Amino acid sequence: MTKNSISEAAQIIKNGGLVAFPTETVYGLGANALNPFAVAKIFELKERPSFDPLIVHIASFDDLSTLCAGINENIMRLAKHFWPGPLTLVLPKSVVVPDIVTSGLDTVGIRMPDNSIALELIKQAGCPIAAPSANKFGQLSPVNAHHVKKQLPNVDYILDGGNTSVGIESTIVSIEGNTCRLLRPGFITLDDIEKALPNTFIFNSTKPEKLVSPGLLKSHYSPKKPLFIINEPLESLPEFSGLILHGKNKAGNLSKTVIYTSQSHNKIEISANLFASLHAMEEDEIVQRIYIEPVEEKGLGIAIMDRLKKAAYQYNNSTN
Ligand code: TXA
Ligand code: MG
Repeated sequence: MTKNSISEAAQIIKNGGLVAFPTETVYGLGANALNPFAVAKIFELKERPSFDPLIVHIASFDDLSTLCAGINENIMRLAKHFWPGPLTLVLPKSVVVPDIVTSGLDTVGIRMPDNSIALELIKQAGCPIAAPSANKFGQLSPVNAHHVKKQLPNVDYILDGGNTSVGIESTIVSIEGNTCRLLRPGFITLDDIEKALPNTFIFNSTKPEKLVSPGLLKSHYSPKKPLFIINEPLESLPEFSGLILHGKNKAGNLSKTVIYTSQSHNKIEISANLFASLHAMEEDEIVQRIYIEPVEEKGLGIAIMDRLKKAAYQYNNSTN
């Protein structure tokens, strides 16, 4: 099932099937975005609630004008600046986008991934590809083909492109006229966006009263074992703990299972290795509880802590 023929995978998409494929962020579970029956299979396989809309992946700027009703200068500026890359733009949708893709919203999330396999798949399939992350709803995002197979053994095809480079999901922003809102933090930071759009009102909407984007649920991306963000001395952690640390100097001679996401607290390395380290702890037969070091919530650290807090939420708020 894990293979690397882009043409076979493209044929499956054309026939209304599902293909898991690599992007630079995480693996996606893709279907022809213009075929509502194919898209319905994504929700079924992922066990995803129908209120949670999908991102549509494109390989050319022409697709942007087909899918989006009304492209303004700000949209073009962001797209030209960051695509292909880990930025999703939530834009007014055109009539060609089926309602099932957007969960009935009048906006659609669009991005052009920075991964040659993904781009070639979209080109050969001849259609935009709707794809959420290729995991069961609420569980850890996959950053290699093995992670996909673990959660979605019945997917029609997994295109194996090795480990993804960015490791966390795209930044999501919505644009309406002269207003840009951050809906999900990611590798591209609010600072990066402010620099690219100097004359625009930019809001951080990642803590809304109202659910602007269902990806902002408090609990998400969770491993199947209890996960805690470390805020106590490492020596006092219980037996059979797995520790995820971000710099080499910390663990000393602890007799615990330790995984380092980075040797030196480098945030790019931490984000690239974050989900892989959580998957590895989830699969480790000795580890019963996972403890992970926090990072400073600045720059890319904001997106890393967003994923971590959501991954740990259900284990830290079980009485709520
Ligand atoms: O990096 C990524 O974005 C990966 C790769 C595969 O592209 N995809 C991904 O998809 O993370 P998913 O479905 O796991 O997360 C997409 C998020 C969801 O939280 C969804 O609610 C939000 O995007 N979203 C999609 N369309 C939206 C819209 N029209 N308005 C608001 N939020 C939207
Ligand atoms: Mg996801």
